[in-house]
Amino acid sequence: MYILGIDFGSKYIKTALCVKDLETNEINVLKLFKITHKASKYGTITDLVKAKEAFGQVLEKMKSEISEPIEFYVISISGENVSSYSGTSTIPLWKPENEDRRIKITGSHVCDVLKAAKMTAYNKDDKVELHSISQDFQIDDQPPTQNPIDMAGVKLKSTVYVIQTEKSHKENIGSILEAFSIENYKIVYSPLATAETVIDEEDKEAGVIVISIGDQTTELVVYLNGVLRMAKVIPFGSNNITKDLKILLQTDFSTANQIKKTKATAYSKDADPLKIIQIANSSLQKKEVSEQFVAKITEARLKEIYEFVTKEIYKGAYQKTIHSPIIITGPGSKLKGAEKLFSEINNSKTIHGTVLGIKSNADEITEDYFTAVGLVKYAIMNELFSEGDNEDRKKSIFERFKQFITDLI
Ligand SMILES: Nc1ncnc2c1ncn2[C@@H]1O[C@H](COP(=O)(O)OP(=O)(O)OP(=O)(O)O)[C@@H](O)[C@H]1O
Ligand SMILES: [Mg+2]
Repeated sequence: MYILGIDFGSKYIKTALCVKDLETNEINVLKLFKITHKASKYGTITDLVKAKEAFGQVLEKMKSEISEPIEFYVISISGENVSSYSGTSTIPLWKPENEDRRIKITGSHVCDVLKAAKMTAYNKDDKVELHSISQDFQIDDQPPTQNPIDMAGVKLKSTVYVIQTEKSHKENIGSILEAFSIENYKIVYSPLATAETVIDEEDKEAGVIVISIGDQTTELVVYLNGVLRMAKVIPFGSNNITKDLKILLQTDFSTANQIKKTKATAYSKDADPLKIIQIANSSLQKKEVSEQFVAKITEARLKEIYEFVTKEIYKGAYQKTIHSPIIITGPGSKLKGAEKLFSEINNSKTIHGTVLGIKSNADEITEDYFTAVGLVKYAIMNELFSEGDNEDRKKSIFERFKQFITDLI
């Protein structure tokens, strides 16, 4: 079964053509391909005509790689107009006809409380849902649980995390694929896809924070006790570092970008004040600066981006409950010193994410493609395409319960 992951980023459209082994569910990457485009800003599509043109190009390329048709498509959605809300609600389990006040919880109670919780998460009527993730349930004063079925109590409380966006935003993304008569597609929030590539179920259970630096956006994802707790896109990325270098080194964008990738470090204490870097195409008098000068510019901007991220982590107090190393990833994280700087600011162990659970028959999967391959992994892990597919659903009782909840709400 061929699945195409389409990461519609701010600068690039990147695709991963994958094949899923129907018996083992294993994901194999057959082809990776990317082109630049001018259809999006800060993760949001701003020009649909250009978006369709760019998608047409990558689609043609991918289709030429295989003789059979692509069965499923998963495309990313990102940008500031995707927002998340938590909704909480409590329902009574007791009804006048029951003799006992304590009632055994059934699937129908779970359905009712989740529906009620979801209603409180909607803040505007013109929003549409992208994902809704059931958090914890609580029966009376008992400790929180993720599966309340068959337990007994007087009242049931639940919290749901809803990721939503404007109707037109979701429609725009869909229309890119529909322009090519593609109907079997799913839209997945980009941060969820990127994180999926670098973490597994054990990381999610233990609690994990993933930060992914892109061109114009930075993504943040938090999992705890096996459940997604937060996913966010911040409208700043590696492109902001290039722009600063361009201005302060008085050079063109491409030179600044090259310096960022090859000479800059984000950890200025590691930079040499005596080492000289030549700046091509610069209007600076000497056309050279110290390595430390470049590092200070780079560090200042990345620090600012990291501060936005840590503010969000602190808002949810996740630094208190999650003790696993923080994972940084995304092409922007390839910047030298990026991980050291985050460790220092956040006083935490920080590591680079590596690909988990995805094999490649083709090129090595670098950070550039983590979102594209993650889209496919997310769709498979969450069975987005397996409605009615009984074989795929032979999972553990817990996983089946999670699916049951998703089906209900
Ligand atoms: N080796 C490197 N060192 C530093 N930065 C790098 C390196 N390689 C790539 N980058 C930067 O990563 C950014 C590209 O990120 P990405 O591919 O995620 O862009 P995008 O998906 O189009 O945008 P976004 O993710 O913000 O929507 C560019 O700014 C690029 O300069
Ligand atoms: Mg990206």
